[in-house]
Amino acid sequence: MKKETQLIAAGRHPDSNYGIVNPPVYHASTVTFKTVADMERIGRDSLNNVYYGRYGTPTTFAFEEAVATLEGGDKCIAVPSGMAAIALSLLALLKSGDHLLMVDSAYFPTRKFCDGYLKNYGVETTYYDPMIGGGISELLRPETKVVFTESPGSITFEVQDIPAISAEAHKVGAKVLLDNTWSAGLLFQPFEHGVDVSIQAATKYLVGHSDAMLGTVTTTTELYEQLKWAAVGFGYSAAPDDCYLGLRGIRSLSPRMERHQKSAQQIAEWLEKRPEVETLLHPAFESCPGHEFWKRDFTGAAGLFAISLKNYSKDAVAAMLDDMEHFALGYSWGGFESLIIPSWPKTIRTATEWKGTGPLLRLQVGLENADDLIEDLDKGFKRLNAA
Ligand SMILES: Cc1ncc(COP(=O)(O)O)c(C=O)c1O
Repeated sequence: MKKETQLIAAGRHPDSNYGIVNPPVYHASTVTFKTVADMERIGRDSLNNVYYGRYGTPTTFAFEEAVATLEGGDKCIAVPSGMAAIALSLLALLKSGDHLLMVDSAYFPTRKFCDGYLKNYGVETTYYDPMIGGGISELLRPETKVVFTESPGSITFEVQDIPAISAEAHKVGAKVLLDNTWSAGLLFQPFEHGVDVSIQAATKYLVGHSDAMLGTVTTTTELYEQLKWAAVGFGYSAAPDDCYLGLRGIRSLSPRMERHQKSAQQIAEWLEKRPEVETLLHPAFESCPGHEFWKRDFTGAAGLFAISLKNYSKDAVAAMLDDMEHFALGYSWGGFESLIIPSWPKTIRTATEWKGTGPLLRLQVGLENADDLIEDLDKGFKRLNAA
């Protein structure tokens, strides 16, 4: 069965729900038991039963089943945000004295988490070049327990050689974690490429409508219990309405991603020829570092990419972005609406030097007509040049 077809059925069980197409939204804390014996029996197998609200409800399980199907993992754990998914995975798999290899192009709050909390807990982080590939072997130590990847990087879009990194990490027993949000779990199948834990900010493409915070940790049977017990222990339970929104988003994920891809491609082709643009950072274009790995390992492109501008001032960039008609200024991405943010990557690198001379603009291409979006950018460039 093709993935698009699987995503229509995954997590739906109409036969046990009066024939109703979508699963109900269970709002629950307490789950009651008929007898003390039942309470004890179910308690002994609490991860495989409806036991207590924090462990999840049938709504949570339906969403988790759909995401595990999407990403090709054995099991999924729903958590309240993408950041919770990152924090949970790192905290569950690392302890004091361990060493973590973190990609230099990681989402900035991931870096902050490592440099703050993990450092205080006695975990040492070494940042590595996103293009390191099999060269990661030189940084691996006996105490390296996790290699964290994000591919492509969500600001600078380097595509990583995940199979080469995984092969080396596994030689020393380190687990490979991937922030797989850009691919929505649809365009890159992590478990076919050596990943042990695939994380998504479901807030982005899975929810798809900018109206809920949600995260997922998808993994193998081997690591599931360790991660799930950590989720229960830290109290990370995803809200039932948000799981429902994630589940609903998954039904239309494939056609939405096609549209995001098509419009982003058209806009990127237009941007590539603009004199204001120094480099186009879109994984489907040769100018993007790691484009060859995107071509080899991905089945398509998302609607998020960046352009590195020539050396324009902050004021000129503000003149461009303050008055955009369709591209709103805002964090996050993956919704139906277009967004744009400026960024200065030079200030957040430690293992590699960012060579771009000007500011970077990250574009989230939404579901509007691409011609309207191009017109918006064209007017923006006029303001940029006039400022
Ligand atoms: C790549 C990436 N990972 C994780 C997150 C965090 O997700 P959330 O905002 O749901 O906590 C984000 C948010 O922007 C992101 O861009």
